[in-house]
Amino acid sequence: MITELLRKPFSRRVFTRMLGALIAGAAVLRVPVGAHAQAVSQKQAVSQTQAASQTQTSSQPLAQRASRHGPVSRIAFGSCVDQDKPQPIWDVVNSAKPDVFVFLGDNIYGDSEDPAVLQSKYEQLGAVPGFQQLRQQTDVVAIWDDHDYGVNDGGLEYPSKEASRQVMLDFFGEPADSERRSRPDGIYTSYVYGEPGNTVQIILLDLRWNRTALHEVADADKRASRLAQDMGPYDASLEPGATMLGEAQWQWFQQQLHVEADLRIIGSSIQLLADFTGWETWANFPADRQRFFNLLHTSPMVPTVIISGDTHWSEFSRIDNSGLPFPLVEMTSSGLTEEWQAISPNRHRIGEAFARANVGMIDIDWSVQPPAVTMQIRDVQGAVLIDRRVEF
Ligand SMILES: [Fe+2]
Repeated sequence: MITELLRKPFSRRVFTRMLGALIAGAAVLRVPVGAHAQAVSQKQAVSQTQAASQTQTSSQPLAQRASRHGPVSRIAFGSCVDQDKPQPIWDVVNSAKPDVFVFLGDNIYGDSEDPAVLQSKYEQLGAVPGFQQLRQQTDVVAIWDDHDYGVNDGGLEYPSKEASRQVMLDFFGEPADSERRSRPDGIYTSYVYGEPGNTVQIILLDLRWNRTALHEVADADKRASRLAQDMGPYDASLEPGATMLGEAQWQWFQQQLHVEADLRIIGSSIQLLADFTGWETWANFPADRQRFFNLLHTSPMVPTVIISGDTHWSEFSRIDNSGLPFPLVEMTSSGLTEEWQAISPNRHRIGEAFARANVGMIDIDWSVQPPAVTMQIRDVQGAVLIDRRVEF
């Protein structure tokens, strides 16, 4: 099996599939997904962008989207759902009654250029009772990662991305006239919840549509050495033009960082703060990673946290010397069903990492100004694995 991994691109997913093939498969449910309209309209993001430019010339309040539960105080998030597996994690999520749930990608393991296959797999997810309950009681928003995009570690070159996005946005109830469906460079979006004094902005970046080439280590010995350190096959992409977001999304992101908010949550399908791991992280694109930090420094100072997925383990990372007046923190929650035992090194990790199915939870303390957040990871029994309070 190790030999096989050395010949092929290292794929956590492929490896997990190889293990999974040894285990009897779960029954596949095929019933139509119910009609849901809880995903938030991209019109909101457009109005936010318009409002962002207004804020530079006026003090007009921003267009805001009221949560069904009033001010948002609990946001759950997660990633990496194998539609073929039992999903007991939804019981933990639903009993916590979050105001919003954020899917951070690999929301299904689509892994097909055929949109009918993706649709069928979304229907499997949509038929899970716990997921159905989530959609009934919680605002659900989503961005994708590689497997729901359609291919392991896929990027700019992927030929079926247009079909993939329509299937995904259909599933999550995106309106037919949403800009996310027609924009030429991806499905990035943002949402604003609450009122002045308790406004939360959630920004979801598209790290697939425009991502330029990854570079793999060719030397077998070096790959073996990497693997022995629980590291993957990639080297940094240093060539001019190497990018995660693409220029248009960078411009949009910059505008979003001028939207008035009391708390900003930036959703990144792959890890931002983690050290170079050789797997897919922002560290493979150091120029873009630095641009991200620079943009935070030069934008209005708003308490900001990062949330991410993809890894199949959970961890909390912190950088104290980023230049911001507060530590920059990131909670990684992965996966809602997936678990990966070979946890990569990360010198920015605080405390332990956990290779157990999990969900992330953000509780916002609006009783202090600026607001503080408690970021937790909970396992399928509801046990709290990571618990960090962040003050700004
Ligand atoms: Fe992924």
